[in-house]
Amino acid sequence: MTTRSPSPLDLDHATMQRLGRQVADAVAGHLASLRDQRVITNGLPAATRQRIAAPPDETPVSFDALLQTLQTEVFPFAAREPHPRFMAYVPGCPTFPAVLGDWLATGYNFFAGVWPIAEGPNAVELAVLEWFRQWIGMPVGTGGLLTNGGSGATLTAIIAARHAAVGDDVSRLTRLTLYASDQAHSAALRAAWIAGVPRSQVRVLPSDADYRLRASDVQRAIADDRAAGLIPLAVVVSAGTTNTGAVDPLDEIADVCAAERTWLHADAAYGGFAALTERGAHLLSGLGRCDSVALDPHKWLFVPFECGSLLVREPETLRAAFQVLPDYLRDVAAGQDGINFADYGEQLTRQSRALKVWLGVKYFGLAAIRGEIDRAIDHATYAEQLVRSQPLLEVTSPAQLGVLCFRVHPAGMDDAAALDALNERVNAAMSADGRYLISSTRLRGTFTLRLCILGFRTTTADVEGLIEAVVECGSRETGDRRRET
Ligand SMILES: Cc1ncc(COP(=O)(O)O)c(C=O)c1O
Repeated sequence: MTTRSPSPLDLDHATMQRLGRQVADAVAGHLASLRDQRVITNGLPAATRQRIAAPPDETPVSFDALLQTLQTEVFPFAAREPHPRFMAYVPGCPTFPAVLGDWLATGYNFFAGVWPIAEGPNAVELAVLEWFRQWIGMPVGTGGLLTNGGSGATLTAIIAARHAAVGDDVSRLTRLTLYASDQAHSAALRAAWIAGVPRSQVRVLPSDADYRLRASDVQRAIADDRAAGLIPLAVVVSAGTTNTGAVDPLDEIADVCAAERTWLHADAAYGGFAALTERGAHLLSGLGRCDSVALDPHKWLFVPFECGSLLVREPETLRAAFQVLPDYLRDVAAGQDGINFADYGEQLTRQSRALKVWLGVKYFGLAAIRGEIDRAIDHATYAEQLVRSQPLLEVTSPAQLGVLCFRVHPAGMDDAAALDALNERVNAAMSADGRYLISSTRLRGTFTLRLCILGFRTTTADVEGLIEAVVECGSRETGDRRRET
């Protein structure tokens, strides 16, 4: 005989099954019909916002009604990240088994902060970190943890680097410096600021013609700073910049950092898993030499948000920076066999992010995952060919690791401000149209359209359709403006 608690919060088995199926059906229905949906819908009505903000009643509301509200009033006003025509920013396109891994972790509510409380799930986390280590060629003994994302991973690395450099001597914080290119992700700058590097001492070095950090610039900047009595804390290299997909010369910069005894952190948040492919492995081979590497399963490993990871060559540096052992946690000290992930980062209570990685990868097998990364790289290359074949378009940065920058450039229109304005209108019109979503950036100050294809639902027909849509839109915007003037 089972005794159930009298709590109204303790749902019976049949009810849990019914509600769970409703949610599973809703998600499956959504994913299966993505192609027929817009990629993004903006314009959440003010009245809906007010209704959502209403405080909860004292009395219950049926799950059916609540789910219905979410599905009709809330969810439509968002980008469909896993959509085949979502080619903006850095798309998140999780597989369904990886989503189920997330639900399992949430449903069981594993506490992955300390070893003795969740040995099984923690062993899965160690396992997936070991996969990553092997994939990017870091040495045996490398350790780390799964994080909320790339920003968390980079911050964790920079805090560890800081502790290794100055320990508890806060009087030296004002002398710290950090180096990255003008293409580095904002996460690197923010991490430096949070770690206490004075903002004026974050050296944003100009990138070369291919948007890569120059090793010689790093060397010179470090030498100048040392001569001025400053303390070079870390160099952050990008292994796949967000703007163009460029990969910094990892080996050359690793040589500089080794000679200078300066921490080398690689932001491989989006590009890192390309190491699974043959061409990516070649491009990213220097990752194995870094002191720390951030790489995000929630980007190119088809795992749902939030899932980043940090690998550190000497994991003891993480422990030295983060470990605290309060009296109330002595019962769960890690012991000989396991590790407490709470000692390696800022989170004590943390979910088991490893389950979604493990399920998502194992369910399909590595060949399928690798194949999809390769296919996405091919799509961006194909998009570049199509752009080059269109007289109205021009490539502003060639396809690299799934990213392509391009713009509308009508013959004879050479005024920089007018070209920027035209492309801003095209970008806005594409978003408003809702069939495709691309995004924009600036390269050396010039406004450019940018596409990023990482998802596995995108087809060559989608790539062709996108370029046709941009040409249509560009012709319309050019024609409209010419008629107006
Ligand atoms: C290269 C790179 N680094 C870091 C980040 C930040 O990652 P997250 O948004 O997961 O914190 C991103 C995000 O797109 C990125 O592209």
